[in-house]
Amino acid sequence: EKRELILAFESSCDETSVAVIEDGHVILSNIIATQIKSHQRFGGVVPEVASRHHVEQITVCTQAALEEAEVTYADLTAVAVTYGPGLVGALLIGVTAAKAIAYAHHLPLIPVNHMAGHIYAARFVKPLEYPLLALLVSGGHTELVYMPAAGEFEIIGDTRDDAAGEAYDKIGRVLGVQYPAGKEIDRLAHLGQDTFKFPRAMLKEDNLDFSFSGLKSAFINTVHHADQIGETLNHEDLAASFQASVVEVLTTKTMYAARQLNVRQLVVAGGVAANQGLREGLATAIKASGMDLDLIMPPLRLCGDNGAMIGAAAHIELQKQQFSDLSLNAVPGLDF
Ligand code: KG4
Ligand code: ZN
Repeated sequence: EKRELILAFESSCDETSVAVIEDGHVILSNIIATQIKSHQRFGGVVPEVASRHHVEQITVCTQAALEEAEVTYADLTAVAVTYGPGLVGALLIGVTAAKAIAYAHHLPLIPVNHMAGHIYAARFVKPLEYPLLALLVSGGHTELVYMPAAGEFEIIGDTRDDAAGEAYDKIGRVLGVQYPAGKEIDRLAHLGQDTFKFPRAMLKEDNLDFSFSGLKSAFINTVHHADQIGETLNHEDLAASFQASVVEVLTTKTMYAARQLNVRQLVVAGGVAANQGLREGLATAIKASGMDLDLIMPPLRLCGDNGAMIGAAAHIELQKQQFSDLSLNAVPGLDF
């Protein structure tokens, strides 16, 4: 049987990535050019800088992805691209590259939602079974997503304010940790103790929503107050206390949803899914619950933005022949 090869593009934020994926779940190549160094001196992603880097990197990454996969354009079944959500200028570079290749090589064009891509990164771990529950935690999103079937997404819980990753990045700034701060705060957290007992927002409320701005403010106030009285607080304990609050809230709400929905699989996805505290917290909670719930967490390198996950998501659309014509545009505020 002929293998289905998808060339997939991701350029929604600060990673230019191009991948070649076979049959939706085998990675032949996954080239990722990160721009983080260029943005760090500004303390966050600068959209115009991001677009310029994508322009420079996209053809280089495409060549590298094809070479590493040992395929040519003639071998491809389709071209896929993230068309939202993300930075409009950044998205447009990937969309334009994918359209050009689809046109030049007469290939179907598959538009992919970036957040769906994060969830489908789980396909590289094992086949997904529906209905499933996904906890989507990234720099811009914190959502509980119910999937009754492949390609169907219902947001059943959302953040009222900051996303989890955003909170990590903001408190990181206060501790002098470079953007993006999540990984370093995670490392510090493992060296400290939850001595500060920061608030756990909305835990007792009978819903699946989140809030992280109160925690962020409590954290910042604690650090500023100590500064004012000339006291230095232990950064490891601060990180551990912050993380304990985030993990407890995410875990509690996720387990609450899983119990209500009667799902067999729980997918954790997005940049914050790389968090060791969260990975351990969920595994422990599932064990303690006695539930028959299969926890699927993509390997760390597939939690952050990458082209492979876009190829995995595109393969679902390929089965349904969900293609776009060359009028495809970037949609920065794209929802499910
Ligand atoms: O999914 P992603 O790469 O980009 C978006 O689509 O937003 O997520 C990036 C976010 C950043 O906020 C970063 O600080 C966070 O993921 N992050 C982490 C960890 N690794 C990355 N947060 C907590 N713990 C980590 N280990
Ligand atoms: Zn992302």
